[in-house]
Amino acid sequence: MKTQTKSSKKIPFFFLLSLIAALLLLPSAQTSVFAHKGAHGIVKERMAIMKGMKDHMKIIAQTVKGQIEFDEKSLNGALDYLQKHAGKRLAKLFPKGSAGKKSDADPAIWKDWDKFNKLALSLTHSSDAFRVALEKKPAGKLDKAALLQLENQYDALKQVCKDCHDSFRL
Ligand code: HEC
Repeated sequence: MKTQTKSSKKIPFFFLLSLIAALLLLPSAQTSVFAHKGAHGIVKERMAIMKGMKDHMKIIAQTVKGQIEFDEKSLNGALDYLQKHAGKRLAKLFPKGSAGKKSDADPAIWKDWDKFNKLALSLTHSSDAFRVALEKKPAGKLDKAALLQLENQYDALKQVCKDCHDSFRL
């Protein structure tokens, strides 16, 4: 009887542990798999990239809000990701007519292609501006003035995501 009680206590504990382990092992796949089940090709690809942008923006957000320690390397890594997928590369993820059931892309994108491209390019410019502010800060540390600068640049960056989503995401 005693051993039974012991093992029945052990099972949920190990179950919980493996559940946590499984969740930790499946970080980014979840959103794209579950949020838009059935998306494929370029739509799936751009969803994954957008999700990547969100994750990298989070690093920037948490840094400027002082929620995580300032780490220049990971900030630069986050900016690299945004820059890599901004501008023309971003526009290329939206070939004409690639809206549809599984996609939240507004067909207005192809009616106002110039505006869409400008917003894609704004992401390049605002991440460039963030990088410049980062390079200007005193070496190795983040004083109040530098933090304020980065916060402003972050707000501008976030606004670009929002502007494009407001106009072109359903
Ligand atoms: C030039 C326009 C544009 C810019 C800039 C842009 N997005 Fe998007 N984003 C879109 C469109 C359009 C969709 C919908 C894509 C689809 O469903 O096919 C989208 C979708 C998303 C999604 C949902 C992905 C999914 O799984 O369905 C996230 C998250 C996202 N964007 C984050 C960001 C972040 C963060 C930024 C800024 C760093 C950003 N986006 C900048 C146009 C843009």
